[in-house]
Amino acid sequence: MLLVIPDVFSPEQVAACVADLDAATWGDGRITAGLQSAPVKDNEQLSETSPVARKWGDVVLDALGASDLFVAAALPLRTFPPLFNRYAGGQSFGTHIDNAIRPIRGTSVKLRTDLSATLFLNDPDSYDGGELIVEDASGGQVIKLPAGSMVLYPASSLHRVEPVTRGVRLASFFWVQSMVRDDGARALLFDLDRTIQRLAGRDGIGDAEVVSLTGIYHNLVRRWADS
Ligand code: NI
Repeated sequence: MLLVIPDVFSPEQVAACVADLDAATWGDGRITAGLQSAPVKDNEQLSETSPVARKWGDVVLDALGASDLFVAAALPLRTFPPLFNRYAGGQSFGTHIDNAIRPIRGTSVKLRTDLSATLFLNDPDSYDGGELIVEDASGGQVIKLPAGSMVLYPASSLHRVEPVTRGVRLASFFWVQSMVRDDGARALLFDLDRTIQRLAGRDGIGDAEVVSLTGIYHNLVRRWADS
């Protein structure tokens, strides 16, 4: 399932974040690349320990924690501290797959990457190229979002970032380990959850069928979730 989460950052947060990123010290993006992806990766990143990355990474996590849409879609168990990257001057990231397991620096925790996320930070009209292409059964999904909006997609997908031929593309990216490993099961739970929300809006949260379906939702989570 590929899902856009709009307005994770307000316009004011986008402006303040971009100002901090513009003033930060950037390094070669290959620092977090795997063996397969390193040769096709050409961008810049902030170090995982960069104070700017940690400050704005925490803002991303706070915003997502308050997003019913993110929580319902991802059913997050743990989230990788968000990283930040920058593409300009023709830089790109060729087709690759993200590593399945990521150690979280400074901890003994290892995260299984079930979902990948990219939060776009620049006005799409301010740069050419830079589309995120996510391959799926129907071909390639082309994603270039307004500043402050985020896409969530299965980390099992091959994906790439097209060359940025004008301007600068800044983004935050990270991974989520979901309580529900299987993408199809998670998509069913999300559909059921959204449908219950609509029914509750129409018939009231105490409606007998709404209560029954809510019970079914939670019993499916019990069946499928790891924590
Ligand atoms: Ni990737």
